[in-house]
Amino acid sequence: MALYTGTPTSRVDGHAKVTGAAKYAAEFKAPGLAYAAVVTSTIAKGRIARIDASEALKVKGVLDVLTHDNRPAMAARSAAYKDFVAPEKGAPFRPLYDGKIVFSGQPIALVIAEEWEIAQFAATLVHVDYEEKPHSTDLHARREKTFVVKTPEKARGNAKRALAAAAVRHEAEYFIPIEHHNPMELFATTAVRDADGKLTVYDKTQGVQNVQRYLCSVFKMKPDDVRVISPYVGGAFGSGLRPQYQVVLAVLGARALRRPVRLVLTRQQLYALGYRPATIEQLAIGATTDGALDAISHEAIAITSQYEDFSRNDTGWSGQLYKSRTAKYSHKLVRLDLPTASDMRAPGAATGVYALECAMDELAVALNLDPLELRLRCYSDRDQHNDIPYTSKKLRDCYREAAQAFGWSKRSAAPRSMRDGSELVGWGMATGIWEALQMESAVRIVLTANGHAEVACAFSDIGTGTYTIMAQVAADQLGLPLDNVTVKLGDSTLPDAPVEGGSWTAASVSHAIVKTAAEVRKELLRLAKKIPNSPLVKSKPKSVSLADGKIVDEESGHAVSVADAMRGGKVVDRIERETTHTFKDSNSHARNTHSAIFAEVRVDEALGVIRVTRVVSAVAAGRILNTKTARSQIMGSVVWGIGMALHEETMIDHNLGRIMNANIAEYHVPVNADVHDIDVIFVDEPDDIVNPLGIKGIGEIGIVGTAAAIANAIYHATGTRVRDLPITLDKLQR
Ligand code: MOS
Repeated sequence: MALYTGTPTSRVDGHAKVTGAAKYAAEFKAPGLAYAAVVTSTIAKGRIARIDASEALKVKGVLDVLTHDNRPAMAARSAAYKDFVAPEKGAPFRPLYDGKIVFSGQPIALVIAEEWEIAQFAATLVHVDYEEKPHSTDLHARREKTFVVKTPEKARGNAKRALAAAAVRHEAEYFIPIEHHNPMELFATTAVRDADGKLTVYDKTQGVQNVQRYLCSVFKMKPDDVRVISPYVGGAFGSGLRPQYQVVLAVLGARALRRPVRLVLTRQQLYALGYRPATIEQLAIGATTDGALDAISHEAIAITSQYEDFSRNDTGWSGQLYKSRTAKYSHKLVRLDLPTASDMRAPGAATGVYALECAMDELAVALNLDPLELRLRCYSDRDQHNDIPYTSKKLRDCYREAAQAFGWSKRSAAPRSMRDGSELVGWGMATGIWEALQMESAVRIVLTANGHAEVACAFSDIGTGTYTIMAQVAADQLGLPLDNVTVKLGDSTLPDAPVEGGSWTAASVSHAIVKTAAEVRKELLRLAKKIPNSPLVKSKPKSVSLADGKIVDEESGHAVSVADAMRGGKVVDRIERETTHTFKDSNSHARNTHSAIFAEVRVDEALGVIRVTRVVSAVAAGRILNTKTARSQIMGSVVWGIGMALHEETMIDHNLGRIMNANIAEYHVPVNADVHDIDVIFVDEPDDIVNPLGIKGIGEIGIVGTAAAIANAIYHATGTRVRDLPITLDKLQR
């Protein structure tokens, strides 16, 4: 049955992508296309006293300048701007709505011109007077001004007392700075308005239907009058979960001018969109002298905007991952004059587990235990929060296989005890954990008599390989060669899907395909039975499968070709079915993916230059649908983990309330020279409880714990513990 599922299949969209045939939001054309550019605020807080576009309007080729004073109508209530992924609490940002400034880089005017260059130039001529108010953008300066958001997990036992009584204690504060999304594809929208006022919007997004419903709400339009298309996405990883302001502005422009408008935000403007919130993580762990945990306390302080409460689960992983008698958590927010933070690959876990896994390493040092041995001593086979089993948890296998591949047993325990020439060598490890989520989604399959199937749903493929795994699963379910399957995605008119995120797409869409394919199979059997003297006349739907273009009765061995069934049944040439796969969690089991990461660093003793020379990441994520695209996901995540550990940091000039390094020259990310040997292992993790196909999803697990493994390796190499990321060479020297 499974010819394709589980194999290292190359991307079915790979050819289109590398040849440039794949079209992105800013590449769609329309007759009379106009180009827009955004003017952004230079202050962080206050209001616009006066905005003067007269000079910009004088430039030849400028068509219009829209501001809050003259824009077309849009919804007034902030609730109208609430998309599916918006924080529960708060009033979402309304772009160009009024003169109030709530963050630096806020869009305040839209210049539309015949050419992009003209729009860009004219945008520099828009004159703005502000009434400025004092702002604050510094988490450290305001860390006492917190408010509490709902803590994701409840406490168990009396952690405070257990901590006080513990034989060995480790307490420390860790810090993760703001990190900004820097996907290759810039945020862009091409908004095309037809003569009846209907809109076709090509947008960079992780959720076409989320954007579609949002636009309908903001512009009070009927669902049928707005279509959002996003067939390819050049990286998103959370930045495209919520509709971004460029989609609103492009539509405003198209409605004002009654012609198509394209808006591409600049790289710099991207820094006023989503980011990983800077977070202070306070960890306290109490243990017995032989490494049993008495208590874990994890308190996070993260930033949010003045208008929304964004928070994720940073702390709950701590009392789940290891067996600990007691646990307590708190998650607090600080309001700053910045845009609302956003999801970014493994939101919450990437930051929270970084702190936990560094703290565990420090505890191991305090206990004089090998860090892997400590993890094994407090290994938990049950979910600690609810005292329930996991659907599967092959974390032990991750530890064993990764340690073996890495050569961990050859580690000499003392810091600074391993070196190679002028470089100190350090080996560190960490654990990763993420959720195995599933969402309701629908799939439509159209099977034609010539043996071709089209499989469609409104999910996006943000580069993770969704097109490919859908084709693989459908090919197997329908008994067709992979090349005979076409996948359609990223169009709001396709069957319903949520945003692509949370690593839930593979499991969700695969089961929707299975369910829909079963309907197709049932219909084929019904038709095949109508053939005169049909060999399948007695076959039951349950014993029938599709293989090699045939309907096969697995019990009798009898078969009828799909083409014969269709013709014999006189249905003509196509069968179309659409079903929705819903998912119910009985909460009888915990659903998680796990990983073990081992890292080697080499640190130049004189200069402090750090190189991450080897990483082994072993992942337990149920059935891997495509070992090639999955490996790419984990490798990409590990590279991001290297960036988190060593490079990424958004820097704000707190006097101006403005980001200083809003470009990829000064916002550092790993380049090829920073990435060496990355070994990805998928451990065998059969799981028929999580879902029938045993799929857990792998988009996010790869980053969780990676920065901690590197930080721990740096400690091992140098004897210096740096707890605030990124670990730059100046911090090693102090
Ligand atoms: Mo992911 S942060 O849900 O794209």
